[in-house]
Amino acid sequence: MNKLLLIDDEEDVRYSIQRIIDSPEVELITASSGEEGLKLIPKAKPDLVLMDIRMGGISGMETLRRIRQMDAKLPVILMTGYSTTQMTIEAMKLGAYDYLLKPFDVPKFKEIIANALKAARDMRQVVSYQPLLESEDYELGIVGRSEAMQQIFKLIGQVAVSDATALITGESGTGKELVARAIYHHSDRSQQPFLAVNCAAIPEQLLESELFGHERGAFTGATLQRIGKFEQCNKGTIFLDEIGDMTPATQTKILRVLQNGTFERVGGNQPIEVDVRVIAATNKPLEAAVAAKQFREDLFYRLNVVRLHIAPLRERREDIPLLVNYFLKKLAHEQQRPPKSVATSVIKLLEKYHWPGNVRELENAIRRAHVMAKSDAILQSDLPPEIAGTAGGGLASVSGTLGDASGTDAAALARQLFQWARRDPKLKIIPAVERELVIQALKETNNNQVHAAKLLGITRATLRKRIDKFGIQRELNVK
Ligand SMILES: Nc1ncnc2c1ncn2[C@@H]1O[C@H](COP(=O)(O)OP(=O)(O)OP(=O)(O)O)[C@@H](O)[C@H]1O
Ligand SMILES: [Mg+2]
Repeated sequence: MNKLLLIDDEEDVRYSIQRIIDSPEVELITASSGEEGLKLIPKAKPDLVLMDIRMGGISGMETLRRIRQMDAKLPVILMTGYSTTQMTIEAMKLGAYDYLLKPFDVPKFKEIIANALKAARDMRQVVSYQPLLESEDYELGIVGRSEAMQQIFKLIGQVAVSDATALITGESGTGKELVARAIYHHSDRSQQPFLAVNCAAIPEQLLESELFGHERGAFTGATLQRIGKFEQCNKGTIFLDEIGDMTPATQTKILRVLQNGTFERVGGNQPIEVDVRVIAATNKPLEAAVAAKQFREDLFYRLNVVRLHIAPLRERREDIPLLVNYFLKKLAHEQQRPPKSVATSVIKLLEKYHWPGNVRELENAIRRAHVMAKSDAILQSDLPPEIAGTAGGGLASVSGTLGDASGTDAAALARQLFQWARRDPKLKIIPAVERELVIQALKETNNNQVHAAKLLGITRATLRKRIDKFGIQRELNVK
């Protein structure tokens, strides 16, 4: 649930914004003056403030200044009419997150609110990194016990206390953004803003202006002066995601900011000084881009002061059970329910898969399986087919010994079983299959008899009788 504080002295505006926002995920609280807003903030702890720039009593500008002093990490979006452009510029310099022009363009309005809420979460949800191994409670953090991840934890600790530029590399979904946030949260700048800029998501020609701002008339369409992220984030941390995608001009500017903390707005000639810590990330091999002369070599070396390379998940499979456990706890936390369990055989399958989408793919698979699971245990059949594969577990392995039974219905499966029986004239088919079913059900549910019984569609008492009858207990105690 996100809490949004709206400060505006006009009842009509408050009403219409309430109507636009109307969402179950956002709780709207209102104040009719700057004074009232300032009093509310420490008590209500909003995630975001939406404020009119022109109000009776203390001005929006002064209110903004005081909010920044109170909590530099609380994003403030200003609402303004065209006539107050100069004020919005001043406000952006003061660290306002963004501004909205009246009358509102509803889709744009919603987009800005969503972005600001994401920024607020990035700043607020502390990412812990050490040692998030097997704690009982859910806590947002980086999980891993592999040697490769231990190394990353050490590096995070070391760069967090310095002010050095850090470069995070690794395939898509390995956790680069998470690591960037952990560095920020453990740095001296943790009480100052953190702004993430996805360089690949912004059109090339706009990126430079997004980062550094522009002067009025700097290019066609630049009808107003604009303040860029570097200026806005002064004293804070900027996360430049997908840094591989930038024009040479932008690269040059970034290099200069890193070297001496100054830049000029696009179309401007006055050097502006900032104090910003840069964390960069990319999933592209920057060395190759340097060799191909697409990326400035000097910038590469400047960014590469501290390098954190996150290994792909398939090279640290020992982290998989831990991650699965973590995601189950995260889901339980989100849904306020006890976590579901995962059969050992399922964990084995997850450990075998090659995870081209890395941890993100694993998280999605667990989320999906969580929805699919009919009981409180996640089974092989709840996994996406590419991960579940055909090997191991359940009836698949019974039929596997008989040849291909994939995609069968019950009748085809029965025919396969008869072939099996024919090969062994002494075999009593029903008890044999029943025994196999009981064994597989127990394996799939990690020996949980309640879940196994459910899976088999029999009562627990019946399951116990079968276990005794077939002498399965001993066999399963082995594993
Ligand atoms: N070690 C980890 N422990 C816990 N969660 C993780 C870990 N690594 C990644 N995740 C989770 O996996 C998802 C993807 O991580 P993230 O967005 O940081 O990856 P990325 O490397 O930035 O990917 P991309 O290159 O696609 O942007 C996130 O939900 C993140 O919380
Ligand atoms: Mg990322």
